[in-house]
Amino acid sequence: MQILGIDIGGSGIKGAIVNTENGTLVTERHRIATPQPATPQAVAETVTQLIKYFNYEGPVGCGFPALIQHGTAKTAANIDKSWVNIHVENLLSEACGQKVSVINDADAAGLGELRFGAGNGHAGVVMVLTIGTGIGSAIINNGVLLPCTELGHIEFKGESAERYCSDAVREREALSWEKWGKRFNKYLMYMEMLFSPDLFILGGGASKKFGKYSTQLTLNAQVVPASLLNMAGIIGAACYAETA
Ligand code: BGC
Repeated sequence: MQILGIDIGGSGIKGAIVNTENGTLVTERHRIATPQPATPQAVAETVTQLIKYFNYEGPVGCGFPALIQHGTAKTAANIDKSWVNIHVENLLSEACGQKVSVINDADAAGLGELRFGAGNGHAGVVMVLTIGTGIGSAIINNGVLLPCTELGHIEFKGESAERYCSDAVREREALSWEKWGKRFNKYLMYMEMLFSPDLFILGGGASKKFGKYSTQLTLNAQVVPASLLNMAGIIGAACYAETA
């Protein structure tokens, strides 16, 4: 099928039509800046604008940067606080007049990577971590996603882990890749102790810089960068809409 996948982020709302049989993009990716403040109403209008840009009719899959439980946002760590308890699926579907299926952005990236990226065909436990403003997580066991894991918020070093080692923290504290890599490695080791994944896939903005910090990683499990890079969320969201 050809399905429109959308990835809502703090600075951009990106979309492309995806061939869900082979994970390729049927169109170029299109990006519209996230409205500020990113209130539910303003974001719904931008999503509608994006759908119109593609002149698209049909199911839409959408990755969203918060805990999404059965279509409702439960948290808002890096987005406008007014999203909490909003039924994102209903809001977006009503705004654009099409069925929009909403999934956490890291869960979407996890599905994308597992189906068509670095986790393709991988059995066992795969943990996908997206590293950006926050840290998003997805755990997939033998191809089945355990949704809503939110491991970026696990307490680590006395605070929410993403406040210790997200990409935004690296920038804010002007950490070298080496220093940040050492921090991130500590967090990964903690994840390994708790979940024993066979494979870690690192996505988000920092996936493109993997070579700059990979020498700091000392895990037993294999660690690879996301091979769909920042397209994983769009591709995974489209795949999710196909089955939702
Ligand atoms: C949110 C997650 C999200 C991650 C990446 C975190 O702050 O709580 O839901 O997946 O950021 O966007």
